[in-house]
Amino acid sequence: MNEIIFASNNDHKLQELRQMLPGRIRLIGMKEAGIQADIAETGTTLTENAIIKARFVSRYGFSMVLSDDTGLEIPALGGAPGVHSARYAGIEANAEKNIEKVLTELSGKAQREARFVTVLCFIKDQEINLFKGEVQGVIASRPEGTNGFGYDPIFIPQGFNKTFAQMTSEEKNRISHRKEALKKLINYIKHLTL
Ligand code: IMP
Repeated sequence: MNEIIFASNNDHKLQELRQMLPGRIRLIGMKEAGIQADIAETGTTLTENAIIKARFVSRYGFSMVLSDDTGLEIPALGGAPGVHSARYAGIEANAEKNIEKVLTELSGKAQREARFVTVLCFIKDQEINLFKGEVQGVIASRPEGTNGFGYDPIFIPQGFNKTFAQMTSEEKNRISHRKEALKKLINYIKHLTL
């Protein structure tokens, strides 16, 4: 069995990645792998944080580890929340508070372009490989939809008139930042003898 340990406690990301990965690859959550930890994301970029998370788990001796660091970048806010997306509204932040802060910061601004960026870090036998995916869009005037997670209720991807949270998981997974990064990883894995 081709097992990859996912260096995250985020079940939403795990679900999305599982839906998109080919059946021959089994993605195992950290808890399922017996690791109880909240990995401190001390990096200053998505890439640094993705590496920190994957390295942390690979130290437990697993041969294949994957991590995902994602940020919402809004040019009108100087690229914020960016690498600080998870804690944008403070230490006690949750999705609702983060969304509220983005909408407050953007109020009255005409420019509402945004992009989601995902960096996947895949470590196999100590070797680090990075894969990046992006999706462009705009920030909605108010939250819409109940699917997905995080900032999905306020992100309208380019070419659509609904938010990620108003899409089915299949629709989001066809076009998302995570899918773009994962496509590159899957292409890379194809060339490996697992
Ligand atoms: P991290 O990658 O776990 O640090 O997550 C950064 C922040 O972005 C968290 O608040 C997540 O909820 C949010 N986030 C990550 N991926 C997505 C996504 O696909 N849609 C919406 N929000 C996301």
